[in-house]
Amino acid sequence: MTAEAIIPPLFCAAHLLGSWDERHPQQAFGELAGQDTPSRPDGTLVIARREEMTEFLRHPAVRATDGTHYNMGAQRPLIPLDLDGDTHRTYRKLLDPLFAPKQVARLEAAIRARTNALIDAFVDAGEAELLTSLCAPLPTHIFIDLLGLPTDDLPIFLDFKEAVVRPQGSTAEEQQAHMRAAGERMYDYLTRVLAEHRAEPPRDDLIGAFLTASVDGARLSDQEIIDICYLLVIAGLDTVTCSLSCMLAWFAEHPAERHRVLTDPTLLGKAIEELMRFESPVPLGHRWVTEDIEVHGRRFPAGSKVEVVWAAANLDPAAFPDPMTVEFERPHNAHVGFAAGPHRCLGSNLARLELRVALEEFHRRIPEYTIAPGKEVLYTNYGVRAAIHLPITFPVA
Ligand code: HEM
Repeated sequence: MTAEAIIPPLFCAAHLLGSWDERHPQQAFGELAGQDTPSRPDGTLVIARREEMTEFLRHPAVRATDGTHYNMGAQRPLIPLDLDGDTHRTYRKLLDPLFAPKQVARLEAAIRARTNALIDAFVDAGEAELLTSLCAPLPTHIFIDLLGLPTDDLPIFLDFKEAVVRPQGSTAEEQQAHMRAAGERMYDYLTRVLAEHRAEPPRDDLIGAFLTASVDGARLSDQEIIDICYLLVIAGLDTVTCSLSCMLAWFAEHPAERHRVLTDPTLLGKAIEELMRFESPVPLGHRWVTEDIEVHGRRFPAGSKVEVVWAAANLDPAAFPDPMTVEFERPHNAHVGFAAGPHRCLGSNLARLELRVALEEFHRRIPEYTIAPGKEVLYTNYGVRAAIHLPITFPVA
């Protein structure tokens, strides 16, 4: 991700509003949540309210894809994101235990060590650009370790996720072509890696777990494992990088709230949840409707593609009183930063762990920091919201 890559297409209904502001999009997302039946000029229906969203996502006629086009350059349905109903449930039953809190807690020491190694590289300089020095490398390293892949392959993952999360091209067709080309490279890579792993005894890593796991009594095929890993690469890297960058940028610009977290560490978990709500790093998802349905008094005709805007629902005043205020101790913070419904994020426990440990260690070693004088934070909201340029200064101990 580079600072030059911030000219986003009109990716979201909120982005079409006059109140859109790349730095502070909350106003526009809040305005969208205020509309009764939002839609895009081309007729695409938009869901922006928390309660309507919950009901819509639970409806059996609501599907994850149109059955032809799959997410992010994939040639086959991504497992489990592009699946529905019983098939989706079967895979979640297999995957959920691998990402349960107890399972991901095993990674805590490694995340702490990796965070500190990255901080070591800039702690004596008194300044740093946090996206490139901490937020981008940390989740990528953790993820490669988790899957059991070689660290030298890191650039392959960074290129791939960049190409599919923020595809180049000025038309949808051009973007699709770029995504498919990157997708093909990733299929080739995963096929090769899997063949290598199959040739050895299963290791204590995620690919090892997939090789020994079974669905309905049958072992996972190579194709199934590849379709799971393809999704994990996209879903598990950029999201944590972007969320961490938004949170560090927010803490840099809100010293009083940062000091509250420093003096009362028990607040950090709540602060992370509240910033997930307020920043909503993944702004939206899409769904398809297979038959005429009515949800919350609104009609959705068969065949509709629907834009589901998590970031707007997180600022819906009916669900979050005074939504524009960041309030760590907000009661009932049922945010949808990790989505809602059957496709709710599989990796939320791992994401929360990475965010907590990274912020704990960063604040322990660099409690005082500000945005570098004369500089400003640059954001993108295209694909995933991130602080793509985050220059800070801090006193050297
Ligand atoms: C702060 C970081 C993260 C955020 C904000 C986030 C957000 C989301 C959202 C919004 C969805 C729903 C997408 C949709 O329905 O269109 C989702 C699904 C998913 N996420 Fe995450 N995610 C994060 C981290 C992770 C990590 C670390 C992993 C894995 C290691 C992961 C794996 C997945 C998977 C596999 C799905 C698909 C679940 C399904 O279809 O049943 N995510 N995530």
